Amino acid sequence: MKNSKLEHILNCYPIIKTDIISGKGTNVFSKDGKKIIDFEAGTWCTALGHSHPRINFIIKEQIDKIMHVSNKLTCDVADVLAVNLLELLHFSDGKAIFLSSGSEAVELSIRLSKMITSRKKLLTFSESYLSAYSSTSFPRNKDSWTQVTFSKCKNCTSKFCSNHCDVLSSINFDEISAFVLESGNSGGKVLLPPYKLVKHLETEIKKHGGLIVTNEVTTGFGRTGEWFGFNHYDIQPDIVALGKSIGNGYPISAVVMRKRIANEIESKNFVYAQSHTNDPLGCVISNEVIKIINEENLINRSKEIGNFFYHQLKELENSCDIIKEVRARGLMIAVELNVNNCTETICESLLEEGFLIGSKPDFNTLRFYPALIIGKDNIINMCNILKKIINQLNTK
Ligand SMILES: Cc1ncc(COP(=O)(O)O)c(C=O)c1O
Repeated sequence: MKNSKLEHILNCYPIIKTDIISGKGTNVFSKDGKKIIDFEAGTWCTALGHSHPRINFIIKEQIDKIMHVSNKLTCDVADVLAVNLLELLHFSDGKAIFLSSGSEAVELSIRLSKMITSRKKLLTFSESYLSAYSSTSFPRNKDSWTQVTFSKCKNCTSKFCSNHCDVLSSINFDEISAFVLESGNSGGKVLLPPYKLVKHLETEIKKHGGLIVTNEVTTGFGRTGEWFGFNHYDIQPDIVALGKSIGNGYPISAVVMRKRIANEIESKNFVYAQSHTNDPLGCVISNEVIKIINEENLINRSKEIGNFFYHQLKELENSCDIIKEVRARGLMIAVELNVNNCTETICESLLEEGFLIGSKPDFNTLRFYPALIIGKDNIINMCNILKKIINQLNTK
């Protein structure tokens, strides 16, 4: 085998050419011996850290039994995972289906909603990221989607929302199949929808016979300091799409629904098939992820360490002119700058110092979505280096 120069991987996303050969906890290691502290948790997936010993053990044990089964067959581990998720969501007697990616889970949730309501139109926030596929990705088709821009609510002082408000007046609730809530990740910008708006939309949608779908692909499994992002809104979804952290880096996703929804789908003989459905390997991994999160109290840890991280960044904000805003919910954190074209320089300089963070260059935003096990020492060290880099930028 020839020595690869990493030149044959399709470049359709800004790729950094580092030959990563292993990972442990919040660290990844390159072939040339460099240690990088991963403040992105892979692609926001490794909630428990890389190469978790218990996850590795369960994978090795399961692959000697069976990894994949026909989508005509069932297996107990998938049923156990369904029960675990239904319990976490308080959906008694509901049902679940397991797929591979978050995009698939969101797409299927939407398809199911349309089928159940016999309506074609969907409602979401214009700020929300929903999936990589054409029907839900940006720019979303106006014929299929009604979008509410919650950034317009920023200076609103009304106690309650009204359908006559400019932000909501164009919605015809009677034609909406589902409100697809993505509760604040917003493609890594951490824009948090206002509580009263979410509650209002839930009420109106339900009153008019629509469904509530929550997209928990990123916000689920402790990322926001609660099990699910919708827990911050005190709402009752009908269908929940999950992905990313539920497999700790292994590609498994889920669509979980209440009993009433499952009954309707099954009564209509809806057919959906793809190669990887309810695969046992993903299911045992996810069951173990839930066990570890519970045993290690990682939901609370996410809240506490997220709060610690937020305050470190607020201190930095107080000492740096170029920070416009720090936004956080649990370990979903964004820092928006008030200067253009700096985020990539900052990310590159941090990477040279051994810290991988994310960014949204078009929005002058830095992003921090580490594993729930990230140590305070790593946060302090990263913030110190970030301060040094920002101060050097300032002096230019
Ligand atoms: C909120 C949200 N929904 C859906 C997705 C799509 O998930 P996947 O990339 O696993 O298809 C993502 C991916 O980043 C996401 O952040």
